[in-house]
Amino acid sequence: MKTLLQINTSMFSTGGQSSQLAKRFVGQWQEANPEGRVIQRDIGAEPIPHLTAERFQSFLAKPEARTSEQQAVAGFSDALIDELRQADVIVLGLPMYNFGVPSTLKAYFDHVARAGVTFSYTEKGPKGLLTGKKAYVFATRGGLYHGTPLDTQTSYVRDFLRFLGIADVEFVYAEGLAISPESRNNSLIAAQARSQRLAAQTRLAA
Ligand SMILES: Cc1cc2nc3c(=O)[nH]c(=O)nc-3n(C[C@H](O)[C@H](O)[C@H](O)COP(=O)(O)O)c2cc1C
Repeated sequence: MKTLLQINTSMFSTGGQSSQLAKRFVGQWQEANPEGRVIQRDIGAEPIPHLTAERFQSFLAKPEARTSEQQAVAGFSDALIDELRQADVIVLGLPMYNFGVPSTLKAYFDHVARAGVTFSYTEKGPKGLLTGKKAYVFATRGGLYHGTPLDTQTSYVRDFLRFLGIADVEFVYAEGLAISPESRNNSLIAAQARSQRLAAQTRLAA
């Protein structure tokens, strides 16, 4: 049985365009994988706190030496990582806010990048420990950035996921959502069609 983890990062939670596109894909994936299990994590609705020195220290402290506050922080990070470990498929909604990823997604990444847990350092450099997974990223933008130097999101998210061992990543873009109703419509239709094709491929792979 396959497990899919859907991560919404829109400040509008399930109402965001990225969450809606991701939800559509998850529905199609469920049709293709009827035995599949879905885990939901909505960090738009429940934002992840910024990583602080105190929180980071909780990760570094030996489990038996952690204070109760440190146990809670490390336990929260462990729970996020456990969801990633369980997932064969990760579906990420990725709105663009002020030229970057939502700040809560950065905070999420800061809570799941743990040395010795999700990556390790080797003589050849860092090695991701969350291998054997596939990720689908639904990127929504008011303007047009894909393929230009202003699209900092794609390389950042791709590099971060690869750092954790998740190298197989598909991006689906819905851009120009704020340009005009026609641009928005055409972009969403194209994104939905690509999403459908990708979900159909998971049926073949199932
Ligand atoms: C606070 C804020 C900042 C935004 N910044 C950008 C931006 O820098 N570039 C862009 O193309 N669109 C920008 N947009 C438009 C969003 O990318 C677009 O509305 C997208 O659909 C948001 O995804 P969501 O609906 O899943 O939240 C911004 C929207 C908001 C609310």
